[in-house]
Amino acid sequence: MLSLILPTYNEAENIAELLPRIRTVLKDVAHEIIIVDDDSPDETWKVAQRIAHDLGDVHVIRRVGRRGLSSAVIEGFLSAKGDVLAVMDADGQHDMGLLTQLHAAVAEHGGIAIGSRYVAGGSVGEWDEQRYMLSRIATRMAIRLCAVKVKDPMSGFFAIARSTFEDIHPRLNPKGFKILLDLLVHAKKDTGVRELPFSFGIRAHGESKLSRRVQLEFLEYLYDVTLGRVIPLTFVKYCIVGLVGVGVHLGAYMGFSALLTHDAQLSLMGFSIALVGAIETAIVFNFWLNNLWTFAHARLKGWALIPGFLKYNVACAFGALANYAVSTFLFSLAWAELTSVVIGACIGIVWNYTMSRMFAWRSA
Ligand code: GDD
Ligand code: MN
Repeated sequence: MLSLILPTYNEAENIAELLPRIRTVLKDVAHEIIIVDDDSPDETWKVAQRIAHDLGDVHVIRRVGRRGLSSAVIEGFLSAKGDVLAVMDADGQHDMGLLTQLHAAVAEHGGIAIGSRYVAGGSVGEWDEQRYMLSRIATRMAIRLCAVKVKDPMSGFFAIARSTFEDIHPRLNPKGFKILLDLLVHAKKDTGVRELPFSFGIRAHGESKLSRRVQLEFLEYLYDVTLGRVIPLTFVKYCIVGLVGVGVHLGAYMGFSALLTHDAQLSLMGFSIALVGAIETAIVFNFWLNNLWTFAHARLKGWALIPGFLKYNVACAFGALANYAVSTFLFSLAWAELTSVVIGACIGIVWNYTMSRMFAWRSA
């Protein structure tokens, strides 16, 4: 049996046209259709539910509070009954005539069958120069990472044997758009992969969701599966936030010390007070940016921010203390004011990263 996953985000018009056509194409293949919609503002899920009511074996999963093509496809696969799982865009750009061949290839040989734009007979259709170049560059980079070599690892149109998917599933990284690439990166080297040519068509209605953000997620993904295996991306981001935080710390220190000194030389007491103010300002800033960016996938929202922030303060306490001790020590040795502040701040970073991973963003 074939389980066809259709990920959707704002495809209400397309899905209404597509479903009856898919039904016709698959009339001789035992199948089910699973639409995974991320709570589209245009209420694709509602349109799909209405059609599902009339057509047998069409299921609609409406995911609330989550976004992402890859994770939507994975969720669809997980709820599927078939021994062959397939995915196709819901905007008419994939040639549904190829579905029966993709299904047959996997039913017969197992592994993965890809609707490919880059093998003989396939094409990307009417793309502008920029999209074409971006796709070529991304594809070249992606191919190097695959355990099994293919021409079009970035295609969104493929079928996979349930057993192959289940074997790879625990290793998947659900970020962004590149579900097929991720499967190929984590597949066993002897996985059978076939590519069947097709021409990428024109979107029927609406517009592409391949945003700048998705492109950025692709770069993050490339990092994750290469250098990221040794140095986690969250650590790199945490260090960047930490460095910007040192700037904020320094700026806040200068602000506070300017308020406390009037012409006269700053005393150790005045230095300490300005330092404490600067440390807490930096803590607030770092918490905000880490929550927004570094740990975006585990982001705290609403009331959860309060205990999160308090835990973050506890986690930072030792780092802050080290920061305070080092800075005041250097200052008391007559080191230059700002040098003392910066060195103290740097000392706190590594400790803070370790502690905040252990406490504030435990799932990250
Ligand atoms: N559930 C869900 N959540 N579906 C999504 C999301 C999301 O966040 N983002 C996009 N989709 C759905 C769209 O509604 C559409 O059915 C399908 O995924 C593909 O999205 P498009 O926005 O049409 O992508 P594209 O045409 O620009 O990109 C296609 O080509 C790329 C390679 O060049 C896709 O096939 C990509 O998978 C492929 O990598
Ligand atoms: Mn599309």
